[in-house]
Amino acid sequence: MDTTPKPFIPPAPIPRTEPPNMLKMFWIVYNNPIELWGAHSYREPYVYVPSGIGGPLLVANDPKLIRHILVEKNKSFKLAKTRQIVLRPILQDGLLTAENPVWKRSRKAMAPVFTPKHIHGFAAGMSRVTKEYLEKYDSPGVTHDIAKDMTELTFNVLAETLFSNEIEGDQKEFEHKIERLFETVGRVDPFDIVNIPEWVPRIKHFTGRGILKYFRKLVRKTIEKRVERIEKGDTPPDDFLTLLLRAEGEDGLSREEIEDNVITFIGAGHETTARALGWTLYLLAKAPQERAKVEEEAKRVTSQYDNPLDWVENMPYTRAAFEEAMRLYPPAPVISREALEDIEWEGTTITKGSQCLVLPWTLHRHQEYWDQPNAFMPSRFLPENRGKIDKYQYLPFGAGPRVCIGQSFAIQEAVIILGELLSRYRFDMAKDASEPWPVQKLTTQPDGGLQMVVTAL
Ligand code: HEM
Repeated sequence: MDTTPKPFIPPAPIPRTEPPNMLKMFWIVYNNPIELWGAHSYREPYVYVPSGIGGPLLVANDPKLIRHILVEKNKSFKLAKTRQIVLRPILQDGLLTAENPVWKRSRKAMAPVFTPKHIHGFAAGMSRVTKEYLEKYDSPGVTHDIAKDMTELTFNVLAETLFSNEIEGDQKEFEHKIERLFETVGRVDPFDIVNIPEWVPRIKHFTGRGILKYFRKLVRKTIEKRVERIEKGDTPPDDFLTLLLRAEGEDGLSREEIEDNVITFIGAGHETTARALGWTLYLLAKAPQERAKVEEEAKRVTSQYDNPLDWVENMPYTRAAFEEAMRLYPPAPVISREALEDIEWEGTTITKGSQCLVLPWTLHRHQEYWDQPNAFMPSRFLPENRGKIDKYQYLPFGAGPRVCIGQSFAIQEAVIILGELLSRYRFDMAKDASEPWPVQKLTTQPDGGLQMVVTAL
């Protein structure tokens, strides 16, 4: 008799068998777009609706088609309309939302911060910040919202590594406000998908305007302080902010673009990693047989290697658990583009103007590409199995020229944080905690947080 425990199947919406009516669809789009997708989107190589309500719509799953869109023909696409309507008011010409020459110039200017050598230099800081944060887990019997904790911790890591802890204002307030900002302004409004002009106000514009102003003010102050320091002849920290300011000038970045990028990197650089860490801890708590392997590895490797940088290469199981968590709950559940010309694909014309969606949410749970797609099985990401996964069937960080610039930063940070956490503590769901329901805001979040108890090992 096979006594191997069955893999854990975590909560997720059941694919729809019928399309919702229009009113319901608006409701779903506003509240939780991942509940929209029908069974076809989890089964077919692609779904093309030539006359959707907001214009033609493509959901691309076939890894070859995805490569075509994001890599080979990337010049035939621009960033999708809805994404820009949602994000541009916040991020303006930051790297995530910039296009054409501004994007090219900015990506080149920022590349030096994200070289392997530079990122490796952040390992000690990542570990120190985590150690300091962990003190809060030393009182036993307390229930913690781990989703919130991971957001705080990754914010602290970002503030330390990219901004040398010189972000203006009260850190807690700043962090709370950025979360509110993305929750309000950074949300798809039903008006956004049915082509109602941008000048027609959305609910979110009333709630988000004040927060946006608050941010711009703090970011401006943060930059001014650093500029003053540089002008005074002080040696400024060799961090992201100094690098951005060095790129200022006629051929480089304008002061506004620098501001946009400070906001972009704070926005894109911590919440995504935080979500993936939260889901990893939840999934491991629900799969004790997997958790035991990660805890053993974390204890062994963190005591064997003093330098946290060495953990990244030597903790394959921990990394696999993190990657599997990003498969089941991709922090960025949508990657979207708009076709600038007609594209032929297997006898179908994807017409100019089509909104083309690569949905890590459906792709990572696709029935044709994954064995037991809904089960938590970290071993699929172990080095010996990795070759079986097509590069374009697993896309937590996107692909092509606009692939996530912070990918290596995020993986290194995640392994170091998990090494620190799981070598010392065990994370369990609190007794009365409800199961988390995945909700797509900008990231895939656990609705109601993750109520967990933390016990010293
Ligand atoms: C687990 C963590 C992360 C995930 C899952 C993630 C995911 C993604 C994805 C899917 C994209 C591509 C979007 C597209 O093609 O439309 C992207 C782009 C980007 N990410 Fe990340 N990201 C993570 C962490 C980070 C970190 C740590 C930073 C910065 C420190 C960062 C900064 C950015 C920026 C600036 C872009 C825009 C790149 C461009 O368009 O050139 N991300 N990210």
